Amino acid sequence: MFEHISRLDPDPILGLMAQYRADPYPQKVDLGVGVFRDLLGNTPILDCVRRAETEVIAAQTTKSYVSAAGREEFNGLVEELVLGEGHPARRERRARTVQAPGGCGALRVGAELIRVAAPATTVHVSTPTWGNHIPLLGSSGLRLARYPYYDPIAHRLEFDAMLEHLNTATAGDVVLLHACCHNPTGADLNPDQWEEVIGLCERRRLVPFLDLAYQGFSDDLTMDVAAVRRVAERLPEALIATSYSKNLGLYRERVGALIIVSESDARATAAQTHILQIARSIYSMPPDHGAAIAARIFADTPLRAAWIFELAQMQRRIQAMRALLALELRAATGGNAFDFIEHQRGMFSLLGVSSAVVGRLRDTHHIFMTQDSRMNLAGILPDNARYVAESIVAAIGA
Ligand SMILES: Cc1ncc(COP(=O)(O)O)c(C=O)c1O
Repeated sequence: MFEHISRLDPDPILGLMAQYRADPYPQKVDLGVGVFRDLLGNTPILDCVRRAETEVIAAQTTKSYVSAAGREEFNGLVEELVLGEGHPARRERRARTVQAPGGCGALRVGAELIRVAAPATTVHVSTPTWGNHIPLLGSSGLRLARYPYYDPIAHRLEFDAMLEHLNTATAGDVVLLHACCHNPTGADLNPDQWEEVIGLCERRRLVPFLDLAYQGFSDDLTMDVAAVRRVAERLPEALIATSYSKNLGLYRERVGALIIVSESDARATAAQTHILQIARSIYSMPPDHGAAIAARIFADTPLRAAWIFELAQMQRRIQAMRALLALELRAATGGNAFDFIEHQRGMFSLLGVSSAVVGRLRDTHHIFMTQDSRMNLAGILPDNARYVAESIVAAIGA
């Protein structure tokens, strides 16, 4: 059976992690894999998660099956967290939420739903985008197209080119948009630009598919979903993939959800039945443990307050490291060409250098980032920022 298949190259991020682990240099720096790191360089379990997990285990009476939709209370709480309590789409019963195995699971189920509903749809994806978007959406058989989004050399959005591309999309096409903390660029649309994109989707009858993997990492839980709420208010249809890997640190538990917004209660119900059938045919039902923890935190006032506090700490740490690296780069270069790092949001920025420079940073300076020069700013620490800045300058000048 397997004689005709050849070995694939390792996944670039996993390959980079292995190279990092194998490097014996004591001052090596990992800016590669997309996980939060604290001041000690660890990816900790949040305190609120530890407390909620203890309570969940104490209260659990069975390990019997859940359902293809996952936990009902989790789904309701996610919808409230994302859309807000009194959102018109919820009042009019036009929204449905189904738990999924992480943001990846939600993106894939969303893609399968689009394929069932409208197989000829093209999904327009930003250039650049998170590497896994292409296989996640493309493997469902949907056609993908790319819209210009960000110029990594000039370090700015290509907003006019983005609008120009989307203006040529066919009615019914889907536009994948990063709700906040764009991965890999850290460059988000401002509120006016969001309004323009929403207006364009309305005029050209395009359907936004919002990827919400970093709620709370840009400003806070509410501000980071302002655009999502506007989309769900103004447009008849939208899909939203949420993830709790980063903002609850539940990476390996696989916690996420797919929210769909439809034109009417009846259409939302019909779409939901298809989502459940898709889930059943791929993984049957999502894992429960992480969603039980998340639901407890969302619903319990003290746990939720503790979460909001810890989330703000993570957000502030990344912003502080952005400011520090920009400061060190100003000192090392005598100019402000890298100030964009300070102003971007979320975990990532693109350094905007060639793969040869990325290679020199890795091989000569033991600083690891993906080939496109994406840096995870959570890998910066107060005691490595100067070393990273000086190494960047040396590697560019070499
Ligand atoms: C932009 C984006 N979307 C979705 C995800 C999905 O995350 P997960 O499947 O771990 O919940 C990630 C994770 O890195 C991401 O960066």
